[in-house]
Amino acid sequence: MKKKIFITTAIDYTNDVIHVGHAYEKILADCIARYERIKRGAENVHFTTGTDEHGTTNEKAAEKRGITPLEHVTEISAKDKEQIDALNISYDRFIRTTDEDHKKFALEFFTKSLENGDIYKGSYKGYYCEGCESHKTISELDENRQCPNHKTRQIQELDEENYFFRWSKYESFLKELITSGQLDIRPEGKKLEMLAFLDKGLKDITVSRPKYKVSWGFTTPNDPEQVIYVWFDALINYLTEGLTKGFWDEDTEIVHFVGKDIARWHTLLWPAMLKSAGYRTPDKVYVHGFINLDGQKISKSLGNVIRPTELVDKYGVDAVRYYLLKQGPVVEDSDISTKQLEEVYTGELANGLGNTVNRLAALAEKSGYSCGNNAEIAIEDQANIYSPIAEFRIDIVIKNIWQRLAALDKNINENTPWSITNKDELYKVLDYEITELKKLAILLHPVMPNMSEKIAGIFSSENIKKPEGLFPKIG
Ligand code: MSP
Repeated sequence: MKKKIFITTAIDYTNDVIHVGHAYEKILADCIARYERIKRGAENVHFTTGTDEHGTTNEKAAEKRGITPLEHVTEISAKDKEQIDALNISYDRFIRTTDEDHKKFALEFFTKSLENGDIYKGSYKGYYCEGCESHKTISELDENRQCPNHKTRQIQELDEENYFFRWSKYESFLKELITSGQLDIRPEGKKLEMLAFLDKGLKDITVSRPKYKVSWGFTTPNDPEQVIYVWFDALINYLTEGLTKGFWDEDTEIVHFVGKDIARWHTLLWPAMLKSAGYRTPDKVYVHGFINLDGQKISKSLGNVIRPTELVDKYGVDAVRYYLLKQGPVVEDSDISTKQLEEVYTGELANGLGNTVNRLAALAEKSGYSCGNNAEIAIEDQANIYSPIAEFRIDIVIKNIWQRLAALDKNINENTPWSITNKDELYKVLDYEITELKKLAILLHPVMPNMSEKIAGIFSSENIKKPEGLFPKIG
């Protein structure tokens, strides 16, 4: 095992504020980062998220609002950060592609590739989807010549001068990188998909746009009439932070969390770019699927966008995290609904965990029992519960913890501590039961950090009291 780990999420476009679908990725990565801090020590873990602020969609969104692109992205980035903070995402840096240090890295990176002979001038004639900020071949469009992921946006037909990156030069390098496992793409199906794409052959890719078409971006260092293409800028955010903070060396495991729509950029373009500029490549790319709401894609045009804060305000941050993490590693599309969230809230949280906490706290309060800070978790215990994390199976981790909770409830029902009149005897029973509950609370930290702390706090007090409204009734 490498000493350090660098965990990143995709950085979100700032054309609009993030929704609950984007939130899934951040919560998943946060859960892993929190677990890794327990395993490796906080100083050996670095975790980033942020916003991707250049390119056409941002420029057009600002134009529509009659403000400058910088004003627009600054406002949306701040709102995104509020959403991320409401979800208790423990990032070490919220990076913006308009940050000064990132600009320096992006320009230097472009220059390095240019000097290596990997960037050349050419012309591009073809399709472009502004939603994906991506050039498209006809085979990637649907029967109506629309991008399947952005059906409400008009596909652009471009005919323009650009700088190109010699992506094709890196075909065999990428093949070797992926088949050897040096770049570990999870899940396996996504790895095969990426290899199949590679087998079709790579075409060089444009890495700049003419200023008369898009002006919102970094001017290319070699040509004042072009701006760096948004992906050749955004991907570098990882390096900006990783290199600066000492998390882009051989002692660091580099893990990217991304959605299925942007897997190719991260598994095929990004490693080729890094190789070209002379940097090490990442170790792992975890590709997750999409969260749908009540069976429908989450989209503005369908009017079903839910912001994370709307859920957090109603159900509390821990319940939202718990519910989304329970979905497990979403591979393709997974359906969520507020109805199901309410069922989980009531059944597993309020009547499950909350009820156990209330019962034991009430017994301790009534009998004057206290136990201090006595919940040490044995290493094997941690390993048993957390081992599925190696495969990102947080859903199984949650199941493991809930199985122990069920066993604890059984123990309480069998020992009927409320009927024990002898104090020594009662305290012996409570010692076991409360210590077990405190252990479970600690183990819950990566999933529900606030609740974990709250429960540990309740039972570490000298005067244990039955808590009020741990999981309040939903109004
Ligand atoms: N800006 C690019 C990423 C650049 S990373 C160097 C981008 N932004 S995005 O805002 O469109 O998406 C950000 C992340 O959220 C992506 O990983 C994307 O797959 C994910 N999701 C967007 N909608 C989602 C769902 N409905 N469900 C799950 N993840 C979703 O792509």
